[in-house]
Amino acid sequence: MNSNKKFSAVITAVGLYVPDKILDNAYFEKIVDTTDEWIRTRTGIKERRILENGATSDLAAKAAEDLLRSKNISAEEIEVIIVATVTPDMFFPATACLVQDKIGAKNAWGFDLSAACSGFLFAYQTGCSLIESGNYKKVMVIGADKMSSIVDYTDRNNCILFGDAASAILLEPSEDKSFGLQDSLLKVDGSGKDALYMKGGGSLNPPTLETVEKKMHYLYQDGKAVFKVAVKGMADISYEIMQKNNLKSEDIAFLVPHQANLRIIDATAERMGITKDKVMINIDKYGNTTAATIPLCLTEYYRDGRLKKGDKIILAAFGAGFTWGAAYAVWAI
Ligand code: UT7
Repeated sequence: MNSNKKFSAVITAVGLYVPDKILDNAYFEKIVDTTDEWIRTRTGIKERRILENGATSDLAAKAAEDLLRSKNISAEEIEVIIVATVTPDMFFPATACLVQDKIGAKNAWGFDLSAACSGFLFAYQTGCSLIESGNYKKVMVIGADKMSSIVDYTDRNNCILFGDAASAILLEPSEDKSFGLQDSLLKVDGSGKDALYMKGGGSLNPPTLETVEKKMHYLYQDGKAVFKVAVKGMADISYEIMQKNNLKSEDIAFLVPHQANLRIIDATAERMGITKDKVMINIDKYGNTTAATIPLCLTEYYRDGRLKKGDKIILAAFGAGFTWGAAYAVWAI
């Protein structure tokens, strides 16, 4: 896919922020009719982080600052900021503008991208295209969500699933096209709109007392329906990108899947013929952090030395919309 391009877009730095407050499964046993055993066996989640004060832009700005510190560069060097989120601080201005101001990225423009759990994957592709165009040299892509702001903590079907977090990557051009993004397959199917949504507050249902009383400002998910399409969607597209790029399971160092449910991740790995030790997992610690799950995995596995230069990785996600996709990249740092 990169063959006609002058540059490849490579990830040259990573950063993350997870809030300190932990909600473990025992906490949910006290507030809804559930058990630690049900949550662990049905989802793989043991605990998740919750931001007590602040908004998505605070999570995102802290992840961005962590990245800048670790790369030892100034925020003024950043040219573009893309924030993938479904929990923006406000409808407008964009969270990217708020992050730009908070970190002092005086020379950057930016925007938000809404693709739910596939948000990071879509933003990664978008950021890579800006780099590959030759017009930009430093693009920051952030996946950030404060899911606790749209979760109904009386609904046992959903409240146990989500957590708050942010994670960032820096994209830069490389003339060595054997590194960086090699290929991606991205899809949407809007007929999935009735299975996973938040219906209140937008132009369809502007906020009223009634929308609040009907709990329309909370996330709704038909878990069983989403589960079925998510398993097929993520497994099929991950397998397809392997086939398209002549990759065998032994060629792949890591599958980096969106962390919604360990059973969906296991099914994807199985379809790809990949063993569990090659699957990045952090759902046990953070739950589903929506746009943050994939970069959070990349950051943690890179920082503890498991993800190495030259590793071939497949990123895969499925989320509301429906949105889904997979990307094939070669790790460059
Ligand atoms: O990230 C974006 C995309 N989202 C996803 O990929 C999530 C996809 N869906 C899922 O991960 C799973 O469907 C869930 C984890 C949400 C639910 O797991 P499930 O195995 O599909 O459970 P279910 O919805 O079929 O429910 C099984 C039973 C039900 O009881 P009955 O009707 O069989 O009596 C639920 O009411 O489990 C019940 N249940 C619970 N029980 C204890 C649902 N939530 C809970 C709970 N604790 N927290």
